[in-house]
Amino acid sequence: MLLHPAHHVSGTVTVPSDKSISHRSVIFGSIAEGTTRVKNCLFSADCLSTISCFKQMGIRITKEEGSGDLFVEGKGLDGLKAPQEVLDTGNSGTTTRLLAGLLSGQEFPSTLSGDASLNSRPMKRVLTPLTEMGADIKSRENNGCAPLDIRPSHLHGIHYQMPIASAQVKSCLLLAGLYADSPVTVTEPAPSRDHSERMLSAFGASISKQGLDVSIQPRPVLHAQEIDVPGDISSAAYFIAAALLLKGSSLLIRNVGINPTRAGILTVCEKMGADIKKKNEREVSGEPVCDLLVKSSFLHGTVMEGDMIPSLIDEIPILAVMAALSEGETIIRDAADLKAKETDRIHTTVENLKAMGADVVPTEDGFLIHGKKSLHGANLESFEDHRIAMAFTIAALCADGDSQISHPDCVRISWPSFYESLEKILVK
Ligand code: S3P
Repeated sequence: MLLHPAHHVSGTVTVPSDKSISHRSVIFGSIAEGTTRVKNCLFSADCLSTISCFKQMGIRITKEEGSGDLFVEGKGLDGLKAPQEVLDTGNSGTTTRLLAGLLSGQEFPSTLSGDASLNSRPMKRVLTPLTEMGADIKSRENNGCAPLDIRPSHLHGIHYQMPIASAQVKSCLLLAGLYADSPVTVTEPAPSRDHSERMLSAFGASISKQGLDVSIQPRPVLHAQEIDVPGDISSAAYFIAAALLLKGSSLLIRNVGINPTRAGILTVCEKMGADIKKKNEREVSGEPVCDLLVKSSFLHGTVMEGDMIPSLIDEIPILAVMAALSEGETIIRDAADLKAKETDRIHTTVENLKAMGADVVPTEDGFLIHGKKSLHGANLESFEDHRIAMAFTIAALCADGDSQISHPDCVRISWPSFYESLEKILVK
């Protein structure tokens, strides 16, 4: 796809619904008693993977014409049916890891497998604690990756100290904990997104939190809920960056989820000197939400490290683009898990930034970026990673010449209409 520099962005927009919350609505709705109604569910490729897995396990999931609301006809904790075939989790780490926990507690065997990227991502992080709980779950190729073969077993409660902060691992263990014979506690090294804890509590699970510990009691009765999914701050990030970087921009992004475990990008933008105002702050389905008014700003470098990393992990590629166009030095560290995402995002971000003439050095756990006044147009690679495609599309709009990007259609993973939505706010 050919990409031309843009003048500025303006208008009022909404962004797609939150991917993490959409996955969880379908998963928890499927094992609750009764029909869960999900307003504004995200129908991106990743969430469709989750929906199709549950359909394969006998859950009726329908979309209402007109409203677009999703109805998940839950069958309770023990209502899933044995799937006849391999459960295809596509490109979705969230589907694979959360289902690994849930399926370990079922009385039927199952196999989880995805695309080439998914099947090369590390699954030891869930295999190790699930095995400790007594689960019979194996990496088929014995390489710590999917396909994962799961057989029925008796699960015990454990107290697991997580070596890395990961909401997918934490949620996997909470789901397995629903089927264990005693409580499961996980201790995280830093807080990761807490959508599972919030939503499982609303469904009626008994979850307690103390500092970095989260515990779940086994065998609750989960009750169907009505869930309204807020806009995804990880998607909003691309439009926030465009509005901040393109001079003369003013953009109102409505209905964005600002859960503190996700909103690290707003803290960092503020430190960089960004003009972003939160309007109309409210709570929707147990999640904090607001409208964001973003105006173009003079940005300066900053440091992103430590406990804040999990709260902005998916936004690092676009934050790196912002840093490359800011004044002074930016350091991003403690983010080695970037290498375990849909692509090695340290490598894929650096390749593209270098192609655009940025001054960037990769490190073991992040980057050093020396900001410049401009980036030049270049041949960019999405590496078929949705977040790399979107981050470098925005970079291309801010460049001083035309660019091209490969496989832009990978945006379907989280934002199928990204290019159409972008077109609506662009002033060329
Ligand atoms: C997610 C958790 C994060 C994030 C991913 C979605 C989730 O991954 O990067 O895009 O929905 O729980 P980790 O749990 O591996 O950190």
